[in-house]
Amino acid sequence: MNEISARVAAFRARYGAESTALPEGPWNAVIASLLQHRSVRAFQPKAVPPGTLEMLVAAAQSAASSSNMQAWSVVAVTDPATKAEMARIAGNQAHIVQCPLFFVWVADVARLGRVGEAVGQDFEALPYLETFLFAAFDAILAAQNATVAAESMGLSTVYIGALRNDVEGVAKALGLPPGTMGVVGLCVGYADESETKWQVKPRLPQSAVLHRERYDTAAEPAANAAYDRALQSFSAASERNSYTWTERVISRVGKLRALAGRDRIRAAMERLGLPLR
Ligand SMILES: Cc1cc2nc3c(=O)[nH]c(=O)nc-3n(C[C@H](O)[C@H](O)[C@H](O)COP(=O)(O)O)c2cc1C
Repeated sequence: MNEISARVAAFRARYGAESTALPEGPWNAVIASLLQHRSVRAFQPKAVPPGTLEMLVAAAQSAASSSNMQAWSVVAVTDPATKAEMARIAGNQAHIVQCPLFFVWVADVARLGRVGEAVGQDFEALPYLETFLFAAFDAILAAQNATVAAESMGLSTVYIGALRNDVEGVAKALGLPPGTMGVVGLCVGYADESETKWQVKPRLPQSAVLHRERYDTAAEPAANAAYDRALQSFSAASERNSYTWTERVISRVGKLRALAGRDRIRAAMERLGLPLR
């Protein structure tokens, strides 16, 4: 495939067959890899090569970090019993047990607190929402760098936000200290495509997310309608059940029960030593 047809194929996959987005502008291997991202929810029983874990962590540590506080940690889990416990917390997501390597990305305010203890100071800003926010941002940026790196190695991933169904259960199983919280998990492994060919899932048209100079919702109704059609044909073809984006939004944020316990996260965080003033 030449470069032009590679771009056209990548854009059609990313925005759906109906899309008229023009694949102009710079193009390179990194962008091609980013545009080909897809989550994978079935893995081969095959370990990742030696040194992969450490290289993924080096990629993660290469992400930008708020004031270079590096307020995150990661727990690499390969033990089947621990993965089973993570899967249980996440609503029995079988891919967590299946994947050879499971990461739990941790917003880590505790390490900063230990710096305070070492210098004999009680750090006043630690229990504030802003500190937790930058720790969570740092953890997510690290996780995404690891994701991009894994995909560049021919590995596949899926994030597991459902760990937040029970942040205290995660902390207990992983021995996380007060002042930390597992914000997201990440399955890593080789995709099992024997039953499902994991496809690139289309995204909203750029007109819905890109605002020039000022936020403007004028294009949103048409963009959402086009995306409903794109996701419906994608899901019908690739996921054996057909749904629109509007239906997904309704089921995810329409009712509190969809939070699956995460509606109690604030109280749980307080018990985890993250009072968030
Ligand atoms: C923070 C975060 C949490 C997620 N949690 C889960 C999860 O618990 N289980 C799951 O199967 N997918 C999860 N996903 C994957 C999303 O469903 C997926 O990224 C989205 O549907 C878009 O599909 P794609 O990644 O294939 O493009 C999560 C993604 C993110 C970014």
